[in-house]
Amino acid sequence: MVVNSMRAAQLTDYGEPERLTLREVAAPTPGPSDVLVAVHAAAVNPVDCKIRQGSHRAILRPKLPVTLGMDVSGVVTAVGSAVTKFSVGDEVFASPNHRLMGGYAELAAIPERELARKPSRISHQEAAALPLVALTAWDALVRHGKLSADERVLIQAGAGGVGSIAIQLAKHLGAEVLTTCSSANTELVKSLGADVAIDYTSERYEEHARGSDLVVDTLGPEHLRREVATVRRGGRIMALTTGLPEAAERHGPWGGAIRAVVQLASIVIRARLRGVRVRPLARVSDGENLSRIAELVDAGAIRPLIDSVFDLDDVAAAHRRVDSGRCRGKVVLQVA
Ligand SMILES: NC(=O)c1ccc[n+]([C@@H]2O[C@H](COP(=O)([O-])OP(=O)(O)OC[C@H]3O[C@@H](n4cnc5c(N)ncnc54)[C@H](OP(=O)(O)O)[C@@H]3O)[C@@H](O)[C@H]2O)c1
Repeated sequence: MVVNSMRAAQLTDYGEPERLTLREVAAPTPGPSDVLVAVHAAAVNPVDCKIRQGSHRAILRPKLPVTLGMDVSGVVTAVGSAVTKFSVGDEVFASPNHRLMGGYAELAAIPERELARKPSRISHQEAAALPLVALTAWDALVRHGKLSADERVLIQAGAGGVGSIAIQLAKHLGAEVLTTCSSANTELVKSLGADVAIDYTSERYEEHARGSDLVVDTLGPEHLRREVATVRRGGRIMALTTGLPEAAERHGPWGGAIRAVVQLASIVIRARLRGVRVRPLARVSDGENLSRIAELVDAGAIRPLIDSVFDLDDVAAAHRRVDSGRCRGKVVLQVA
């Protein structure tokens, strides 16, 4: 059956969460290499909020109105003529790339190469909580971080979306795991596998983490400078945040983008002079890596952490929760 329209939560103008409105829009048409997914659940990421606020306008330039959403879990309803790995009825999950997005909707057309089969032991809500943060943790620890079992890693913001998965993945890789969180989340991060929980409200992580091999930074440039002084010579730092929203707030989207790039470049160069490699990183929507993550979930090595679940028509409240910066894991949208 061909479906011509669908419900989607769209961003109509930059600003507060109320700028997201539920609308009836044309259903996406899958291209030859795309898979059409009936979305059961989606997730909200901080990057969605940054796009909503307009701070990424200079680099992403989405045409408004746009359907946000870079995490989905659902069921395949149609496949393009060149698709070989998926069939109608398959349960899948994915993190659609930055240019595509489109997760806050009943249907999403996603390139086959970005999809993986959903882990069988978890629900769609739990699966939607994984792709973006798990691929990010994978890129930071495995693909670029090359963390090994005899190493020590500092994961910033261990109770958050990325941190909660990175702790589990780093433990699975056999490393010693240190993480930062507020005192309310100490037990949580230890239950995820952290060896040392550093309460950032009363302690300086430098004192615990000095000499670490790797840092996964989710906090931005001010912390990157401190982390360069914390890791050992020859150590590496995976920089997940650029400071763009703060720079854009002060200098506008275009001036802010230039300043954020210059600031980051200066940190990278200064770190190199101290023998430390700072690698800015943007997660890659890679279905093969997502399949490896699904295997780890089914093997019981990684479990998703859900902060809260909202209905799709409550998307503004879901964004307010992520805006708070206090999430324990992921905010999920129930779509179907
Ligand atoms: N480059 C990429 O590809 C990529 C991918 C994913 C995410 N990111 C970025 O990485 C950042 C984190 O993402 P996320 O999804 O993990 O965010 P999140 O889930 O919203 O993070 C919330 C967590 O941050 C913790 N937190 C806040 N301030 C902290 C501090 N000073 N020290 C330690 N913990 C602190 C909070 O814990 P408490 O309540 O205990 O303070 C809360 O648990 C965001 O800026 C996001 O845009 C980048």
